Amino acid sequence: MSYRTLTAPLFDLRVVDDPSTAQHAVAEEIARLLEREAGREEGLVLGLATGSTMVGVYDELARRHAAGGATFGRARAVLLDEYRGLPADHPQRFANWIRGALLDRVDLPAEQLEVPPADAPGAELEAACSAFDRRLRALGGVDLQLLGLGRNGHVAFNEPGSPLDSTTRLVRLAESSREANSAAFGSLDATPTSAVTQGLATIRAARRVRLLAFGASKRDALARLLELHRFDPDRPASALGGHQDLEVWVDEAALGGNGG
Ligand code: GLP
Repeated sequence: MSYRTLTAPLFDLRVVDDPSTAQHAVAEEIARLLEREAGREEGLVLGLATGSTMVGVYDELARRHAAGGATFGRARAVLLDEYRGLPADHPQRFANWIRGALLDRVDLPAEQLEVPPADAPGAELEAACSAFDRRLRALGGVDLQLLGLGRNGHVAFNEPGSPLDSTTRLVRLAESSREANSAAFGSLDATPTSAVTQGLATIRAARRVRLLAFGASKRDALARLLELHRFDPDRPASALGGHQDLEVWVDEAALGGNGG
């Protein structure tokens, strides 16, 4: 695997020419952890992200599984976020999307997937979010969290303005995020306005975090992140600065170099 390292004040970057180099490296690490933790009673707890950035990771895990590797067994998967207000069978619900992208292609039944409680009625939502965070702790915490970067610098659906100590909660989506995701819904009007997301503190609690950002559409978000020396709520991904076990994988296009 070949990458060059770039040092920024908040964290180092691993820069690759081609996103697949990073996606395969991360999938390989997950396969290794699955093997190592196979004997553990609770199994590995893997934090999953939705979005095009992760498709190459899931494809590689599915390929390894078909070849006899990447066995999930008792592993649990946890989703970062879920839209609020979509019908149960809507294909853009993240819980449905992740089934198609990964669960149905490996030995990971939907019962082993934890999803933020986006359907809880308003009056019960806060308690349901606290119960979700408690559930993650009861599972022993997330062993490895996959994380994408929004064009506005969000992680999961922690939009600009999110506090560092935020936990799982109901959020209003930024207009820029709705626009970025509207293609999948056919129009901006059909795109949800809210979601339930793990908070920045929830995400930071993961043992390992692997943040991936590729392509020119991430260039601004990445450039603003690289200028920072400390957490800035307007750039939520900066919450990962100082994390104990963080890898940030980017390609030249996201950095503004070759191919961008
Ligand atoms: C959505 C998700 C994020 C994801 C982002 C980037 O908004 N809530 O978790 O990181 O999209 O998506 P993509 O990988 O398609 O660029």
